[in-house]
Parts: sequence; C-alpha cells; structure tokens
Amino acid sequence: MKTICLIPGDGIGQEVIPAAAEALQALDLDLDFVEAEAGFACFEKHGNALPEETLALARRSDAVLFGATSSPSTIVAGYRSPILALRREFDLYANLRPVFSLPGEFSQQGIDMLIVRENTEGLYSGRERRDGDTAIAERVITRKGSERIVRVACEQALKRSRARGTQPVVTVVHKANVLKLTDGLFRECALKIAGEFREVILKELLVDAAAMKLVKAPQSFDVLVTTNLFGDILSDEASALVGGLGVAPSANVGAGTPVFEPVHGSAPDIAGKGMANPIGALLSSAMMLETLGEPGAAARLRQAVVETLASGLRTADLGGTATTTQFTRAVCDRLG
Ligand code: NAI
Ligand code: MG
Repeated sequence: MKTICLIPGDGIGQEVIPAAAEALQALDLDLDFVEAEAGFACFEKHGNALPEETLALARRSDAVLFGATSSPSTIVAGYRSPILALRREFDLYANLRPVFSLPGEFSQQGIDMLIVRENTEGLYSGRERRDGDTAIAERVITRKGSERIVRVACEQALKRSRARGTQPVVTVVHKANVLKLTDGLFRECALKIAGEFREVILKELLVDAAAMKLVKAPQSFDVLVTTNLFGDILSDEASALVGGLGVAPSANVGAGTPVFEPVHGSAPDIAGKGMANPIGALLSSAMMLETLGEPGAAARLRQAVVETLASGLRTADLGGTATTTQFTRAVCDRLG
C-alpha cells in the first residue's frame, strides 16, 4: 500500500487534483489518499501557507500530488510560496519536465524531450535585497548543486535511451560567456560529470540560442539540463510547442518525498469555471506512478490521455468545448 498526499492548493488546483485522483482510483491500484492544505487561501485561513500538519503528512507519504498555489507578486508578511518551501524542505533538487508531442493540431509532432531544471539555487535562492533605488538578487551556483543535477540528467538520458533505443544526448544550457563565474562553474561541473557517463553525448548551448532552437528545431533535443531560472523559462516555452501549460507535467525529486505537479499555476482567470485542462495533472500522476514502481499503470494512464485526445475531445485551452469533468470521465472510461 502506497500513500499519496494530495495538496490541491488554490484556483484550478482544486479542479485538476480531484480529476487526477479520480483517474488514479480508476486504475484500481493499492493506493491510499490523504489530503492536505497549502496556498494563499490556507494562509488567509490559518496564517500559514504550508502548515506543519501538511508537511508532516507529506513527509509520511510515498509521494505528493500538488496542484498549484497563488503567490502574490508583492511582499506579504509571513507568506512564503509553498512549492518553493516544499522543494527546499525535502531537498528536491531536480525538477523533471518532459515535453512530448500529443495527438492533435494544437501540438507539433516528433517532439520528445526532457528538461532537467536545477530546483534549489540559482536566481531562486531567495537572496534578494533592496537599497534605495537599487535592488539586487544573488545568483548562487554551487559545485554540489551543479554536479548532482547533471548526474540526474545523465541518468535520465541513459534510461530514455534504453527505452527508446536511441543515443543518450544531454545538452547543457548556460550563459557562461557572460556569467563567467556562476555559469562557468555550472559548465565545468557538467563537463566533469558527463565525462563519467561514457555513453552520454554532451552538447552545450548558450541560453539565448537554446531559446531560439527550441522554437526552430525542437525535434533535435533529447535531455536538456540547466539552472533554475533558465529551466523555468525554457520549460514554459517548450510546453507551448505541444499544447501549452495545460498539458505540461513535472516531478520534483531529490532527498525527501517526491512532489509531482502540473507546471501551470492557479489560473485565476479560469478558476471555478470547470474549464481547466486536467492533462498536466494526469501526466504528472503518470510520472508519480512510474516513481512508485508502477510503470504499467503509468503507461495505461498516459495511453488513456492520448486516446481521449485522439478521439477529438479537448478542453477550451486546446480549442475544444469539453469541461474538466467531461475530459476526466472520458479518460477514466478508458481505464476501467
Ligand atoms: P498560470 O499558469 O496560472 O496561467 C497562465 C495562463 O495559462 C492563464 O491564461 C491560464 O488560464 C492558462 N492555464 C494555466 N493552466 C491551465 C489549465 N490547466 N487549463 C487551461 N488553461 C490553463 O500562470 P499565471 O497566470 O502567471 O499565475 C497565476 C498564479 O499562479 C500566480 O499567483 C502565480 O504565482 C501562481 N503560480 C503557481 C505555480 C505553482 O504553484 N507551482 C506555478 C506558476 C504560477
Ligand atoms: Mg514556471
């Protein structure tokens, strides 16, 4: 019996996480679900965006399925982003963001890549300060953080190459020509670690060139590995090639309980309208099942999503009229 901690959070998190839970239940596995609170509504209610009970439940669980939370763009005393706090608390240093083609005119075909984003440091280290009219953010890059993220990327590339019968290619994305010390260290670590993986072919691209190549030749990528902010931006960009934020899944893995979450946010513009695309949450659930040692169930879930799209059903973000519930039912019908 595996325990899944569901954290729906705010906005459409409250719609897509129940949808994912329904599909997981339809798979008829030995799973136990517990639900926990986090986010802005939780902060307004309890004065804490990530209560200790939530952390304790997550710690005791085998995996967390996280929806999204709303974070204000200004400083709110006492508020900290729950997903950033969870990543730090459990030392979930690797953010895995697969981007692959889906059936439908909304998606380009022939794309199958994995963006491996460093998840704990870089420009998101939380070291920001303001001095009058000058504001400074520190970009922290460490040897430990860089080596371990490149190791994850190489391992993932090997796993993918075995499953696909292709060559493992890792592209390290940086801006070492300008950020000579920080990205210089990241690049140095990438060359060293990739050198330990004899089969892996290492390529490198400057981040601006990578952003362009993602649009021009997305089919040419296998695994990309990069620092926190670059990975955040490039993975949103890449998701647009295959349908956008509504379909993008992710996994946060590292030392503690792994956290699986759709890449999108709480989408206040469509929240509560039953319009949210559950695919990001469903594909994140499939990643979770793989990590929990259920690759067969993961494949069934992915296949059910693909078949539902191929039948022509889709939510508004993909140009259709299906509601979250209608799409989810159609997926569950293929699992039963
Ligand atoms: P967002 O991802 O919430 O929305 C961007 C656009 O994509 C919106 O037009 C939205 O309607 C659409 N969209 C997103 N997910 C969708 C889905 N599943 N189905 C259909 N359409 C979808 O990003 P935004 O608007 O920049 O941020 C809104 C809030 O979400 C902010 O408070 C932000 O801090 C938070 N956020 C939270 C994240 C997390 O919890 N991991 C990640 C990103 C943003
Ligand atoms: Mg993002």
